Amino acid sequence: MNFTHLHPKINSLIASDNLTIDNRLTQICELLQTTINHYDWVGFYFANHQDRTLHLKAFAGEVTEHTIIPFGKGICGQVALSNENFVVADVESQDNYISCNINVKSEIVIPLFKDGKNIGQIDIDSNTPNIFTENDEEFLVWVNKQVATIL
Ligand code: SME
Repeated sequence: MNFTHLHPKINSLIASDNLTIDNRLTQICELLQTTINHYDWVGFYFANHQDRTLHLKAFAGEVTEHTIIPFGKGICGQVALSNENFVVADVESQDNYISCNINVKSEIVIPLFKDGKNIGQIDIDSNTPNIFTENDEEFLVWVNKQVATIL
């Protein structure tokens, strides 16, 4: 699946400087979660490098209790340390995984860089197994680049 049709909508949300940054991030989460079928939960976590934790700043989908995640814990915490995209085809195959919802089958986490520093990430959960491809990776890297311009 190709997601370039969503670029103009994302660009226009990014440019909505009448909205707060948190508001824009929430609307981006909602846009992705409602328009892309296999995106069941979408959230942005941001790093606190002092105490080495990730903090949930905006999301769309079910409420999660995992609003603070230590670096190294779960898929998200591993990306905080690795600076690499992490695509998980089957969450049950992962020992270091934090479950937010028993329906989740696959997950993708893409780090968000500002001036070369890993400052957070976008995290997507899907209730469909093995659903994320290089197209999702490419698209979400692009989304994070746009978001970095307003941070
Ligand atoms: N599954 C993530 C935790 C965040 S929830 O998906 C919202 C992880 O293992 O880090």
